[in-house]
Amino acid sequence: MANGSNERGRFGQLGFIFAAVGSAIGLGNIWKFPYITYANDGGSFVLVYLVAIALIGLPIMMAELVIGRRTRQSPVGAFIDAAKGRLGGRAWGAVGALGVLGSFILLSYYALIAGWTVYYFGQCLSWSVRGFDLEGQALGEAFGGFLANGPLQVGFHALFMLVTVGVVTLGVRRGIERVTKLLMPVLGAILLLLVVNSFWSPGFGEAIRFLFHVGPVTGHGLLEAVGHAFFTLSVGMGAMLTYGSYMTSRQSIPRSAVTICFLDTLIAIMACVVMFSIIFSVSAAERAATFGKSATILFTTLPRMFYEMPLGVVLAPTFYLLVGFAALTSTISLLEVVAAYLIDQRGLSRRKASLLAGGAVFAFGIPSALSLGASGALSTLAPLGERTAGFFDTMDYTVSNWVLPLGGLLTAIFVGWFFSRRASSQELAEGHGDVGRWYFVWRGVLLRFVCPVAILWIIWAVIGGRSFA
Ligand code: PFF
Repeated sequence: MANGSNERGRFGQLGFIFAAVGSAIGLGNIWKFPYITYANDGGSFVLVYLVAIALIGLPIMMAELVIGRRTRQSPVGAFIDAAKGRLGGRAWGAVGALGVLGSFILLSYYALIAGWTVYYFGQCLSWSVRGFDLEGQALGEAFGGFLANGPLQVGFHALFMLVTVGVVTLGVRRGIERVTKLLMPVLGAILLLLVVNSFWSPGFGEAIRFLFHVGPVTGHGLLEAVGHAFFTLSVGMGAMLTYGSYMTSRQSIPRSAVTICFLDTLIAIMACVVMFSIIFSVSAAERAATFGKSATILFTTLPRMFYEMPLGVVLAPTFYLLVGFAALTSTISLLEVVAAYLIDQRGLSRRKASLLAGGAVFAFGIPSALSLGASGALSTLAPLGERTAGFFDTMDYTVSNWVLPLGGLLTAIFVGWFFSRRASSQELAEGHGDVGRWYFVWRGVLLRFVCPVAILWIIWAVIGGRSFA
């Protein structure tokens, strides 16, 4: 293994956890999860989601960490290495390539949305100082205007990419580990503060009831829960595999993966408590009129609600700062996937690789940035059908509905059926000790059968024309 030496970089034990949790926790937890939970009527949807995390997300995350640490390579080289002498051989490298491509595309619009949080952080600072003055529909209209403003979109996207590139250029330990170790505790503290604050909100009781009541789950809800499990845990795209390749052998893969899944879920539920306490503070009629079941409540209604709350002037900017931090630790991991590929596979220096990858992602993000109203042609183009009109939606549809499930499926099948049994059991025991019968549950049951069947069901539904956010 030519690249197995320490010069690739190595996380400290805690550093790995912070980095991986940072990758997992992002817009998916604080933005997407609350709104899909709201749209799917809470309660049982949350339960299904927990099951999806435990039975599908967790085993695939462990599979990615196993391949990454075993081979100490970025996704393409890792799959090629791991598949040596196995059926399919080098062709498995395509799974890694799919991950690199997926990370590239996802980052191109994820950083764009992340840029919005920076813009709204600035807006909130200014509202906090001069007073909030957007009543009624004005906030929604302002958001629409912001989306349609090409230079602003491209500018904030560039800003976010620049910071991401800066961190990745500094490397695994000095960049990624240091920044995530700093940001994640701050993020946890801010969110805890917001949760404690919501205890006094008039909507708190109803928020909790909504989150934990038992009710029917639709087929669409099931699909969305499984799909989101991939997104939120950063699996299916080589991000966990890449971070796994920097993990020390002294660290337990099962314990780390359980910790990451637990913290990711905890933060998602906390974000729901915060958001729903605000949302349920208004009357049902007003809720129906202002929220619909829209994905954009974070920018179209939430600021106004913040400013109606006591301490809103502090809470509003703090909240957007939190979302921005969460997004940054995820964009870092996405860029690292692409950069690590260029370093390991193409022999570039880290500096060159980060700059090149970051520059290319930025450029590819421009059509997305302009497809939210700035450019008529880009905003309406619909190669995959009317439901995904616009470049941005087309990219999101492709990654969320195709790349992530497909990457997850092939990873599960590879480790379940093709990768050496001895190598995977050794790697799981490394830093952990004998895992006993759990090994069979993980590989023999979950990776071999449960995950493929569940994911094939998703893919089948997508082929049938269903899509999820
Ligand atoms: N897990 C991130 C979130 O929930 O926002 C998104 C993400 C990051 C997905 C990195 C995939 C990935 F490789």
